[in-house]
Amino acid sequence: MVTASAKYEGAGFLVHRPFPIRELHDFDPFMLLDEMGPMDVRPGEAKGAPDHPHRGFETVTYMLSGKFEHKDSYGHSGKLGPGDVQWMTAGSGLIHSEMPERGFLQEGGRLHGLQLWVNLPKRDKMIAPHYQEIPSRRIPLATSNDGRVTVRVIAGEALGQSAVIETRTPIQFLHFHIGPGATISQPVPEEFNAFAYVLGGEMAAGAAGVGKTHQMVIFGRDGDEAELQSVGEAVLDVLLFAGQPLGEPVARWGPFVMNTQQEIQEAIRDYQAGRMGSIQH
Ligand code: CO
Repeated sequence: MVTASAKYEGAGFLVHRPFPIRELHDFDPFMLLDEMGPMDVRPGEAKGAPDHPHRGFETVTYMLSGKFEHKDSYGHSGKLGPGDVQWMTAGSGLIHSEMPERGFLQEGGRLHGLQLWVNLPKRDKMIAPHYQEIPSRRIPLATSNDGRVTVRVIAGEALGQSAVIETRTPIQFLHFHIGPGATISQPVPEEFNAFAYVLGGEMAAGAAGVGKTHQMVIFGRDGDEAELQSVGEAVLDVLLFAGQPLGEPVARWGPFVMNTQQEIQEAIRDYQAGRMGSIQH
């Protein structure tokens, strides 16, 4: 079990980060998980992440509350509201900004969301950047037979539903709501790395005890299912992430995730030379 550290990022928004930390550099193929907020922002005070580059991996943004606006150096832009998912394959590189949407900035409100970094295999690191932007209503929702468990299927499959998002390597990203005392067993191939991240409620975590809000519960590699058991009196609101490890060397520096230090140096040079473009403001 890992408890996320709380800190202020970028221009000043609260982030809970279970990894990377000194004790857990990455969780192959996942490189980072940030829970943005939750925080209540006053009118005019919402902050974001202004222009910055990425290369060699994917950033997945899942909004729970509040609204963000996205722009990149290829002229792409879009908005993300509650329940929406943006799966951005940075590939060979781009510059983007992730800022509060104008209306949300003016009015303020609750800001809560997730950003996950998914590493790309060596063969895909330099592919052209692209997006999968899925509004909340298109994220498949499934309910267990007894009605006590619901799941939003962002990537992979659960309770007979398949995600609309396609991943470069096998990934599961599932958002469960599990009624008090209920349990769900999610099939996860034995070779996958898997963890749960608790947003609310309490989850049985074997010998580690009980996983609570802002805690990451790491599953063992034995067996081919992940058991999520709600042990509190409230609904367990939990994300399950699982992925086939790449097993490739990782060289990372800031917003770049490559296989070698030389490739990191190239990424820095390309960025500094303007080869990842710039955003028209
Ligand atoms: Co970014």
